[in-house]
Amino acid sequence: MRYVSLFSGGGGLDLGFEAAGFEPLVCLDNDPIACETLRTNRPSWNVVCNDIRQFNATPYRGADVVVGGPPCQGFSTAGKGDPADPRNFLWKEYMRVVQEVQPRAVVLENVSALTHKRNGDHLTGIMNHLREEGFSFAYGVLNAAHYGVPQARRRLIVIGVRDGEPSLPPATTTEHPATVWDAIHDLAKLEATPSLNHVPNHHAPHVAERWSKLGPGEVDPNYRRARLDPSKPSLTIRAGGGYGPNGNHLGGFHPPIHPTFPRQLTVREAARIQSFPDSWTLCGPKTIQGRQIGNAVPVRLAEAIALHVTKLLDKS
Ligand SMILES: C[S@@+](CC[C@H](N)C(=O)[O-])C[C@H]1O[C@@H](n2cnc3c(N)ncnc32)[C@H](O)[C@@H]1O
Repeated sequence: MRYVSLFSGGGGLDLGFEAAGFEPLVCLDNDPIACETLRTNRPSWNVVCNDIRQFNATPYRGADVVVGGPPCQGFSTAGKGDPADPRNFLWKEYMRVVQEVQPRAVVLENVSALTHKRNGDHLTGIMNHLREEGFSFAYGVLNAAHYGVPQARRRLIVIGVRDGEPSLPPATTTEHPATVWDAIHDLAKLEATPSLNHVPNHHAPHVAERWSKLGPGEVDPNYRRARLDPSKPSLTIRAGGGYGPNGNHLGGFHPPIHPTFPRQLTVREAARIQSFPDSWTLCGPKTIQGRQIGNAVPVRLAEAIALHVTKLLDKS
């Protein structure tokens, strides 16, 4: 099966599709560092570093599937997203590409907030476009922890098919979800290992002291992030800093606090929680590495979606 990957970022969705036996005809992203990550890890992939608004997809007509997660910064859960943020409208470009490629199936991923009333026009718009293009679709908010990912990350998934009955992948692990400790315990014995994107930050002594007193799941009021509970799936790994006490947007990568050390997770620990393989190198400075990880679809969830799409297409 061949597919077109839009908004590919650091490659989470693509790694899942690869694991399910798909081949990308093109991976598109306008972030040069995300493109560098894709090219470094998969020199054979056709990575196009361009704005989707300038991307002509007609050479890829006939691909089986179009996949992608349009940017979601404007669709905030906290009500802080800007409804006029031009990035909120990039799903229309996704639909234009679908029209040019004429695939048999589409997969669209986004934050669960896209289902909230205030973002409803976008979701309705996506559905109307899919219907106009001749797709029937299933959509819902999936929890990555139900697909073998050590993280309770909830994301909206839309799967559309031109022929046959659409559905979402059934959960595989509801009873004993993978835990934070399963995912990262063996990294504890490693010191800084830049080749593995595993370089702990050094925090000021008063910060480390405060964090050392936090219990599992407890939130630091200043950092506004929790210390992870090692016995549970992780909280969502986010790309940006979220919002500070005054509603100000925090830049950079602000991951949760390590379950046993008084420090932030490293990029590799966050990558493990997103079910990326250790062989996948994240390029760029640490904050940009973290952004690629926080933006990604967990690889194992992506694989479950891709395998499910294969089944739907086999039946159609
Ligand atoms: C949510 S991330 C996608 C993550 C990816 N699906 C994964 O699993 O790793 C959205 C991506 O869209 C890219 N992007 C934002 N605006 C874009 C544009 N106008 N054209 C192309 N890519 C864009 C960003 O650079 C970012 O990497």
